[in-house]
Amino acid sequence: MSVKINYSNNKTGKSSLNQVLFVNEKFNINGLQKHLNKSEFSYIKDILKKNDLKKNLLTFELNSKKEIVLVSIKNNLKNSDIENLGAELFVRINNVKKNEYIINSDSISSKNVNFLGFLLHGLKLKSYEFKKYKTKKETKTLSIIIVGTKNKPSAQSQLKFKALEEGTFYARDLVSEPGNILHPDEYAKRLASLRKDGLKINIYDKNKLKKLGMHALLGVGQGSVRGSYLVTMEWNGAKKKSRPLAFVGKGVCFDTGGYSLKPAKFMEDMTYDMAGSAAVVGLMKNLAIRKAKINAVGVVGLVENMVSGNAQRPGDIVKSYSGKTIEILNTDAEGRLVLADALTFTEKKFKPKFIIDLATLTGAIIVCLGSEYAGLFSNDDNLSNQIFNAGENIQEKVWRMPLHKNYDKLMNSKNADVQNINYVGGAGSTTAAQFLQRFIINKTPWAHLDIAGMAFSKYGGALNSGGATGFGVRLLNQLVEENYE
Ligand code: BES
Ligand code: ZN
Ligand code: ZN
Repeated sequence: MSVKINYSNNKTGKSSLNQVLFVNEKFNINGLQKHLNKSEFSYIKDILKKNDLKKNLLTFELNSKKEIVLVSIKNNLKNSDIENLGAELFVRINNVKKNEYIINSDSISSKNVNFLGFLLHGLKLKSYEFKKYKTKKETKTLSIIIVGTKNKPSAQSQLKFKALEEGTFYARDLVSEPGNILHPDEYAKRLASLRKDGLKINIYDKNKLKKLGMHALLGVGQGSVRGSYLVTMEWNGAKKKSRPLAFVGKGVCFDTGGYSLKPAKFMEDMTYDMAGSAAVVGLMKNLAIRKAKINAVGVVGLVENMVSGNAQRPGDIVKSYSGKTIEILNTDAEGRLVLADALTFTEKKFKPKFIIDLATLTGAIIVCLGSEYAGLFSNDDNLSNQIFNAGENIQEKVWRMPLHKNYDKLMNSKNADVQNINYVGGAGSTTAAQFLQRFIINKTPWAHLDIAGMAFSKYGGALNSGGATGFGVRLLNQLVEENYE
């Protein structure tokens, strides 16, 4: 169902349409008399006596045409609670029978001046669906009209929410596309189109990558009939020429595992193995749309990990962009190979304040943290704390995991400088992060987010209805807003 939200300057009053009205934590409706006629008022009052007032929403079917939804504004709601309330409201009013609701902003009484903004943001995020490949198009639209003169979000905050929604939805769209459509060639083409948003886009194709010496990234893509790419997206919104914030993403458009082939069961999930890159793209789009006053750069490595006569073999040794040689003991540990070159390149070319990478890197992180927290690995306590706090505030949560020189040792190779998996076993997510850390050459503050458990939700979460979540876009936007603007 698509949702249209419009603002109207109409005064509030009594209405014959479906209405959303707001009450306090005890569902006190005395303030609503001006919006309800007498019989409606006493009908609702009667039912309220018998109802569970601990709920967030109560619905009253007044007649076949009119429904009233009371939204209870509990005390001390955090911004994320209000977003969740908006999502809950969407689920409630997204029903087959009704397709128009009036939201009465005058009835809101909340200490949070942006209550309505957060509510609608949560509602919008929850309403996202990916129905591009259904030939039978759904024609229904849920129309929401905001009436009233009070409590409306300012134009500036509306723009911020809209930018964040567009960035998140763009990331979700990319992740939702199947592997036959969004292969590296198509992905690179779509990124070129982001120039219209004001981003400076540079596309390095196979030939350029060869010249640069990015053989770790190129090795992963060499079995594919598609190209391999590194794409940089720059947003320069700061007045001064300050060092940018850098975001790097794993963009494996499909991960068969290569010759270390994955089993058939759930291999289809590997179409979302580019979710780290999608989060970076969504974030950059959001920063550009809302013209954030910072400098930032997004870097994504786009490849397809396939099997063919030309694919790389277990045991191959490649030279990375950093100059370090890598022994590939398992072709399914490919994300770290793509990131290795992308990280060193980002550090060298942009000399950023920090680098944060996002990747669906290991199944092991799902064993550790499930789909509740992303794994966070970092060489910097300050950056780590900033990301953790942003995650708590926006409810895209991260949990810090250890790095240690004893884990690092496990990645030493007999035949090359480093190997891409450890044979001792255990700590699969940490050893992957240790591998990545070897490609941060100049001690730049760096954090790695393993989002394998977060990028896709089979059953839906608070702010998504199942499918691609866009995890990372809102988290990193929050990090930027809280600390760097
Ligand atoms: N893309 C996978 C990780 C993954 C698994 C993401 C499940 C989402 C859900 C990654 O490339 C991979 O295959 N990792 C291997 C590493 C192993 C060979 C050391 C893994 O996790 O099994
Ligand atoms: Zn893999
Ligand atoms: Zn992968």
